[in-house]
Amino acid sequence: MAIRFSNDCSTLSLSQLSGFFQEWPSPPPAETLLRILQRSSYSVIATEDSTFQVVGYIVALSDGMISAFVPMLEVLPPYRHQGIGSALVRRMMNNLKSLPVIDLVCNVTLSSFYRGQDFSRYLAKVQYQYCPNSFLAQ
Ligand SMILES: CC(C)(COP(=O)(O)OP(=O)(O)OC[C@H]1O[C@@H](n2cnc3c(N)ncnc32)[C@H](O)[C@@H]1OP(=O)(O)O)[C@@H](O)C(=O)NCCC(=O)NCCS
Repeated sequence: MAIRFSNDCSTLSLSQLSGFFQEWPSPPPAETLLRILQRSSYSVIATEDSTFQVVGYIVALSDGMISAFVPMLEVLPPYRHQGIGSALVRRMMNNLKSLPVIDLVCNVTLSSFYRGQDFSRYLAKVQYQYCPNSFLAQ
């Protein structure tokens, strides 16, 4: 299995984006992910070479001057534990290397994954509001 990484989501189609968000209480549709990938300041996708299916992605929102926030990273379950998530983070960090502040929020179980990627532990305050009907409002 060969995995190709790309920063370019401009030619992505919906049929390449199935299977994501399965662990969400109300998974948003593939259209939502396509818009997220195309609207984020930076996106990196991992695609299986033979099928063109996207098997993982990471996005960052940034002011382009000082800071960036990494709100989403996901690898499809059958492709996990093969280094794809780490490779996505490394490629995103390379895209963000000129910015001094990179934030992300994760639960404690993922702490070791991000520690391996040189992120430090801080205290964050978050509020998640899952509103499925608003996913395509914009
Ligand atoms: C987190 C995630 C992206 C990791 O992707 P991945 O491709 O499996 O990551 P890697 O193969 O590069 O993992 C490298 C190491 O990080 C650690 N790690 C990976 N996923 C982990 C998890 N869910 N919990 C704890 N440690 C984890 C392991 O030590 C792993 O090494 P191993 O495979 O030898 O056990 C993937 O599990 C995922 O999509 N999870 C659901 C979405 C999510 O939680 N995203 C993060 C939002 S902050």
